[in-house]
Amino acid sequence: MLYRWMKPLVFRLDPERAHEGTMALWSGVLRVPGMAALARAWFTRGLRGPTAIGAAGGEGSEGVEVAGVRFPNRVGLAAGFDKEGRWLREMAALGVGFVEVGTVTPRAQPGNPRPRLFRLPSDSAIINRMGFNNGGVEALAARLRHRPPGLVVGGNLGKNKDTPNEEAVADYLACFHALHQVVDYFVVNVSSPNTPGLRALQDRGPLGALLAALQGANVALPVPRPIFLKIAPDLTDAQLDDIVALVAETGIAGVIATNTTVERPAQLRTPRAAVEACGAGGLSGAPLRARSTEVVRYLHERSGGTFPIIGVGGIDSAEAAREKLAAGAVLVQVYSGLIFQGPGLFRRIRLGLRGWPSPSPQRPA
Ligand code: FNR
Repeated sequence: MLYRWMKPLVFRLDPERAHEGTMALWSGVLRVPGMAALARAWFTRGLRGPTAIGAAGGEGSEGVEVAGVRFPNRVGLAAGFDKEGRWLREMAALGVGFVEVGTVTPRAQPGNPRPRLFRLPSDSAIINRMGFNNGGVEALAARLRHRPPGLVVGGNLGKNKDTPNEEAVADYLACFHALHQVVDYFVVNVSSPNTPGLRALQDRGPLGALLAALQGANVALPVPRPIFLKIAPDLTDAQLDDIVALVAETGIAGVIATNTTVERPAQLRTPRAAVEACGAGGLSGAPLRARSTEVVRYLHERSGGTFPIIGVGGIDSAEAAREKLAAGAVLVQVYSGLIFQGPGLFRRIRLGLRGWPSPSPQRPA
């Protein structure tokens, strides 16, 4: 409601400044005594279950167990929004069930030069080429040691830009070990279009080696965490078949489908010249919805539902979230939808998913 009034102002700002500015404002609001409880009550109104502070979003009957992790509800914040784990309380107050922090790299890096983030309002879409800007994994781990209770947190892992692909495994392992104590699940990101050569790691050979190394390190630990693989929507059916085989071979927990696309679909309403002026980058939001659902469905059918899939891409309503679940996803994540629909989206999705049957138990990590 408030966002409908704020959005025209926010959209007049440079997108990166708008992102920082709105979150800083929200953070300030929540620091006013009583506001956190009020916010939580507002963003969970009409949802059953406890709304106590600390219980992210109020679990009630919405909780689901996926890969041995108890998620308070099925709706999460996708990677890239809170890359550095700075806004976990702020997101919990909106009723999200889980937040995926990252993508994080071993060493801090600035990312690509600005501008690198563009809105396409007439398509409810975003183009970004951020390039894994982040403060490095040690800073993230230190912050997560003080993470709020009740919220599930995933750690999305990447490699530094200047690490050659042949040495990528060491980068992923370094991030994995640094975060192991402070996250509930991991995501291996080999699907960002904004780190040169990264997506070559999605090929069967290097991907098998990477996943085997990570899962090997994981099962050697006293408390293994589920590891998900995040894939691009631009993979061929043959590549998706490889992914299904690799999940089984390496024993990782599941897949997150999908990251942003390098395609520029012909049906975009934004004039072609304006789209081209944005330059290279990944497209997210409404135009991605159908393709990411198709990938979820394909993986679910080819795997016979043997591993959990987290669906992400163009979810901007309860109906869009139901579409992902109907295709075989067990959880959903949102990024662009939050920008265009505002923070009430999480509640609307949760309301629209009430009564959705629980997934059958999946194997833990
Ligand atoms: C992203 N996304 C992303 N994904 C990831 O695994 N690591 C990252 O660092 C980022 N960074 C990032 C930045 C920006 C500005 C955007 C818009 C997106 C991808 C994101 O998590 C998600 O997979 C896609 O955006 C598709 O979902 P939506 O946006 O259509 O809901």
